[in-house]
Amino acid sequence: MLGADVSPAQYASLLQRAAQGDARWLQFDADALRSHYNRRPFLLQHRLQEHPLFDIAPLFDLAQRLPAQQVKFRRGDVAPDADFDATFKPPQDALTLPHLLAHFEPLHGYICINNPEKDAQYRPQIEALLAEIAAHIHPLDPHITWYSTYVFISAQGAVTPYHMDREMNFLLQIRGEKTADLWSQDDPVILRPWQKDRLLAYEGARPPYKPEFEARARHFALRPGLGVHHPFIAPHRVWTHSDLSISLAFTFRTRQSDRLTAAHQFNARLRRLGLQNPKPVGESAWVDAAKAQALHALQRLRHPLHAAQH
Ligand SMILES: [Fe+2]
Repeated sequence: MLGADVSPAQYASLLQRAAQGDARWLQFDADALRSHYNRRPFLLQHRLQEHPLFDIAPLFDLAQRLPAQQVKFRRGDVAPDADFDATFKPPQDALTLPHLLAHFEPLHGYICINNPEKDAQYRPQIEALLAEIAAHIHPLDPHITWYSTYVFISAQGAVTPYHMDREMNFLLQIRGEKTADLWSQDDPVILRPWQKDRLLAYEGARPPYKPEFEARARHFALRPGLGVHHPFIAPHRVWTHSDLSISLAFTFRTRQSDRLTAAHQFNARLRRLGLQNPKPVGESAWVDAAKAQALHALQRLRHPLHAAQH
């Protein structure tokens, strides 16, 4: 499983650690954080480019010592409207990781290292970032319940096609330049309510890109030391430019996003039962909370032993 749950006790110790910590790696604009967090993308600053673990050589070493299932790789020169999940599927003309690392730039290499925090060398730094993020968002969105990080290394001209994830993200650019295009998760032209419900219920493929979305994109030019916040399920597409790019995606869920996820999953069930227009998630916090509770009650009925153990 990708990522790790964060228990209430772990969360409390993260907040404590942040209060005591002296090394600050992230810098938020307090007004932007307050007004934009989980509503609209916004830029933040960081200084991970100063950290030796995020140089290319230690990251290539990390890619080679982690279990193979934690390292996804491919050629980076894919079409910007390609199916996101299909880009990692074999066959990849028998491309191997050692071969790709040895010829990274000519092959337009693209590597995604899943969960560097599972590596003993990287864990302390990633946990320090988690503590800082928890402390900053706590007044707005308390209790991180899960997190997962990814390091993206890409040669020039690599594309991560249009897609959306089921969590929030701070994408931190460490080396080279990258353009992150983001679309509003609240724009019904981009994401219809039924598409969000099915996305969160893992039903079918992710909602696809359409050319008419292009004019609605917001473009964020990232360089080392800059990051961009992705609100919950905000669609995005990422481009690298003429140089090697390294970035860290810090993705996480909170009690609030867990409630929204459960409400979407409840709506997906209603749709499967034939109710075509359940109240869209996000219109009423009270209704969303009730749907989340109803879903959990249904899950306890179906799996009483599992529920009793938790
Ligand atoms: Fe993504």
